[in-house]
Amino acid sequence: MKPLSYSLVCSECDSVYQPDEVIYRCRVCGGLLTIKYEYEEETLNLLRVWRKRPLSVWRYAELLPISDESKIVSLGEGGTALNRCVRLAGEIGLKHVYVKNEGENPTGSFKDRGMTVGVTKALELGMKSVACASTGNTSASLAAYAARAGLECIVLIPSGKVAFGKLIQAIIHGAKVVQIKGNFDEALKIVGELCLTHPIYLLNSINPYRLEGQKTIAFEIWDQLGRKVPDKVIVPVGNAGNISAIWKGFKELYAIGLADKLPEMIGVQSEGAAPIANLIKKELNEIEFVEKPETVATAIRIGSPVNWKKAAKAIRESGGTAETVSDDEILEAQKILARREGIFAEPAGAASTAGLIKLTRIGMINRDELVVCIATGHGLKDPEIILKQFPKPIEIEANIEALMKILPSNG
Ligand code: F0G
Repeated sequence: MKPLSYSLVCSECDSVYQPDEVIYRCRVCGGLLTIKYEYEEETLNLLRVWRKRPLSVWRYAELLPISDESKIVSLGEGGTALNRCVRLAGEIGLKHVYVKNEGENPTGSFKDRGMTVGVTKALELGMKSVACASTGNTSASLAAYAARAGLECIVLIPSGKVAFGKLIQAIIHGAKVVQIKGNFDEALKIVGELCLTHPIYLLNSINPYRLEGQKTIAFEIWDQLGRKVPDKVIVPVGNAGNISAIWKGFKELYAIGLADKLPEMIGVQSEGAAPIANLIKKELNEIEFVEKPETVATAIRIGSPVNWKKAAKAIRESGGTAETVSDDEILEAQKILARREGIFAEPAGAASTAGLIKLTRIGMINRDELVVCIATGHGLKDPEIILKQFPKPIEIEANIEALMKILPSNG
């Protein structure tokens, strides 16, 4: 495997940087950076080599910015199921609904796709420590990949606002977990300052290498649909890196001639933390940050999304849209996914399905369209939210008579 030649460029002013430079923002305009490939290879060659590898992040190694295969830090990420959801689709009157279950990744969220690339890059750059701010999943994932790579890991999380499952993941993998008395946006600001002044590699989604891993969601969807691009892709949006990454993935497939069209990208945010949805719906040029974001979907409880410009560009360029959903709609979608389709997503992961249901209701999705919702994280991450909503299971004496008494078919 050898990646196509690539460069590190500013996503806003196109300034070019050395790929081995530890840099997160353009020195000219402050814009976020991105990876640009030279498509010198023949498309058919790519298809031929990809076909021989299992569905996974590294199936697409030629379009990932890692040169030394032997250094890859992997836990078997990607290759998640794209479930056709006939029961869900039927209930809302659509024909072709799919849910990509990113909860199947090694630490239970899509973040692992980014971390396998980002942490490998940290090793390539000779870094000894990595850090992130997180609403939970990024810290869980980084902690695991740092452990696998033998790197020191520091994570900053908003105190009391991280789902229990995610917190214990970061702890067991040996990260230095610091709870800050503030929200995610404040944590990200602090960790950004730390990494600028110390030799610590920042692995939040402002890191362009991490987003390269996440774009493989697009590659896999295309592969799993028989090398077809869906009409619409619906993504829960927090810090807005993932929707930008998935759009980049589809655009690359299109640019190298492997895809014949592009999907509409639809971002979904919680009503209490919806700066990007508001930006799109009100057709603004400048984002209005939300100072005190609040939502049951703690993973996307973010008021100042750092990737907002990239995400707004992705949504607008694709002809897509953004929508808000209430906490109740998120929890209802979580229940529908679990009970109609057997897919257990955490609240943020179910936000895309909540968006699908709402957009279908208001006539924004046509019956014949092929829609993919990204379920971004596993439901086991946040058991407390389930226990709060559902009654405790019934308890009976340990005999068959007692069981027969309470079974519905017995009456
Ligand atoms: N869904 C889940 C389950 C997440 O954990 C996140 C982000 C998102 C969606 C939104 O993705 O930020 O790329 O728009 N979680 C980050 C974290 C912020 O720290 O774990 P995004």
